[in-house]
Amino acid sequence: MKPIEEVMEVIKKKTNQSPVIGLILGSGLGDLAEDIEGAVNIPYRSLPHFPEPTVKGHKGQFVIGKLEGKTVVAMQGRYHHYEGYSLAQVAFPAYVMKAMGIQKLIVTNACGGINVDFNPGDLMLITDHINMLGDSPLIGPNDDECGPRFPDMSRAYDPELIQKAKDAASALNINVRQGVYLATHGPQYETPAEIRMMRVMGADAVGMSTVPEVTAASHMGLNVLGISCITNMACGILDQPLNHKEVIETANRVKADFTALIKSIIRSI
Ligand code: 6GU
Repeated sequence: MKPIEEVMEVIKKKTNQSPVIGLILGSGLGDLAEDIEGAVNIPYRSLPHFPEPTVKGHKGQFVIGKLEGKTVVAMQGRYHHYEGYSLAQVAFPAYVMKAMGIQKLIVTNACGGINVDFNPGDLMLITDHINMLGDSPLIGPNDDECGPRFPDMSRAYDPELIQKAKDAASALNINVRQGVYLATHGPQYETPAEIRMMRVMGADAVGMSTVPEVTAASHMGLNVLGISCITNMACGILDQPLNHKEVIETANRVKADFTALIKSIIRSI
């Protein structure tokens, strides 16, 4: 049996709900999962082929239930490359969510602002990404049942979902930015010279996640919406060192807007 089939056997014993939307909740943004009604929690450690999560403050579980009347599966906590997992391991839960039935995936993250017009606390709809992980989750034999060998990435972030997110934001009076997300492997933040390079390359924000899962989602033909919380300005923009505490504090500060926006988007899609 294939790994995904083995995982699905275990999940089907815990719930018969079929989620239509998947949510990946980034650092400090996991609380949204607490609003899921009739929730069935499935810790990653209870599933075959899921490695043990390592980062403090990142819960590791699927939460399946109803949000705004739609059946969803949320990942409360995700795997990161810097923890030592391969990109295939990082992306694996996305394939599992597709096997559960999702057609749309909403991916969130906390990241640093490279665009000098941005401010900490801004929400950014991801229009495109730059993969500087030096790797792809799709390297290795291709499973033709999952998707093509050479997936198209020209609409990795679905323009229709971006428009719906913009409409939802303006109805809620929430100001949203748009931009290109660049992923590094981390775990160190960038140097000022690296940030200058990334700005020239066309990046508006930088983080250590999202790209593996979105690459897998493109492979599977899922419609993706990406929302970043700019938790801090990237290195060299302000005259102050970066720290993970600021990332979590800012994510906490914008949680209410973020939650309201996601719920409204889920209602509209
Ligand atoms: Cl400035 N860089 C990266 N790579 N990840 C981040 C960040 C910066 N701020 C939050 N996450």
